[in-house]
Amino acid sequence: MRHPVRPLSHHAEVRAMTDITSRPPLLEVRDLAVEFADADSVVHAVNGVSYTLREGETLGIVGESGSGKSVHVLAMLRLIPMPPGRLAGGQVLFEGRDLLTLSDPELRKIRGGSIGFVFQDPMSSLNPSMTVGRQIMEPLMLHLGMGAEAARKRAIELMDMVRLPDAARRIDQYPHEFSGGQRQRIMIAIGLSCRPKLLIADEATTALDVTVQADVIELVKELKREIGMAVIWITHDLGVVAGIADTVQVMYAGRVMERGPVDDVFRDPRSAYTLGLLRSLPDLTAPAGQRRRLTQIDGAPPDMRFPPPGDPFAPRNRYATPRCLTERPPLEQAPGAAPGHLAAAWYDLPSVLAAEALS
Ligand SMILES: Nc1ncnc2c1ncn2[C@@H]1O[C@H](COP(=O)(O)OP(=O)(O)O)[C@@H](O)[C@H]1O
Ligand SMILES: [Mg+2]
Repeated sequence: MRHPVRPLSHHAEVRAMTDITSRPPLLEVRDLAVEFADADSVVHAVNGVSYTLREGETLGIVGESGSGKSVHVLAMLRLIPMPPGRLAGGQVLFEGRDLLTLSDPELRKIRGGSIGFVFQDPMSSLNPSMTVGRQIMEPLMLHLGMGAEAARKRAIELMDMVRLPDAARRIDQYPHEFSGGQRQRIMIAIGLSCRPKLLIADEATTALDVTVQADVIELVKELKREIGMAVIWITHDLGVVAGIADTVQVMYAGRVMERGPVDDVFRDPRSAYTLGLLRSLPDLTAPAGQRRRLTQIDGAPPDMRFPPPGDPFAPRNRYATPRCLTERPPLEQAPGAAPGHLAAAWYDLPSVLAAEALS
């Protein structure tokens, strides 16, 4: 994962991206905005997020804690309690229908059916008073119309698939009888159970140990190949994104700062924020003696009760220009980058870095 200043010249990647952009859109998020209000303040958590996810595409979403990753997907599925939350605008078209205005019964048919989801914090997502088997079977019966016997058989297969040992016996146990990592795998089994067109995973494997995490990622890739499932994979692990995603989207202060084909963005970042994230990682692909020293991003994200008027990263960005502080940059095709590689930046990062390297 290196990112010297170098234009994209790898035809294979250009081809792969062309491939994805020619597929039909599955999910179109348009100008989504979400706020949380209490008696004396409003937190602007998500501030006009727009993107298109195509059939079979895997989108990795990264960004520091508090950047609006979770809130924006929860809002799409209408899982934000309102109040204190409120939709400040936007549309979320799934196969052309706006999830934000569907009736509750219509939304329930989609949620857990053609959209599977796995969130962090499994304890809050599993029902403690119902066996895990019942919880895996429920969506199969509800969305796929399976009978109890078929659903039970499928639930055991799903538990096997996420490497839960001794599934035939443990299916009748309750959530508290499983470890945290096992409960998370149960959630993943539920998320994948109906072979969704879209899987949304929010830090789904963060709590799992490395081998189980690798197993789950392999499983998701298999399902992608098998059923052409699209995936939104939210993580703070850029290594996981490099391994699983076609497209990466970098979020900060409730906005998309950069987005594009994952190899292109990681090799040739155009937002100083993306560069900061990449520089805070060990470069495991470099020979041991040549690994860069890690640098944390200085400073803290803005207080979203008072969103900054310009580029939200400007106060932490040593490359910021005066304009960055006052005027918000649009998310646009980055000049000279791969098609579909977009960035929101007034400065030209490749030239700034080249000038820095010379001085
Ligand atoms: N229930 C809530 N009440 C008030 N603010 C919230 C609530 N949930 C999230 N937020 C705020 O929304 C912003 C985005 O949070 P979140 O989407 O969870 O970040 P991420 O998932 O990127 O770490 C943060 O500033 C967070 O404090
Ligand atoms: Mg989150």
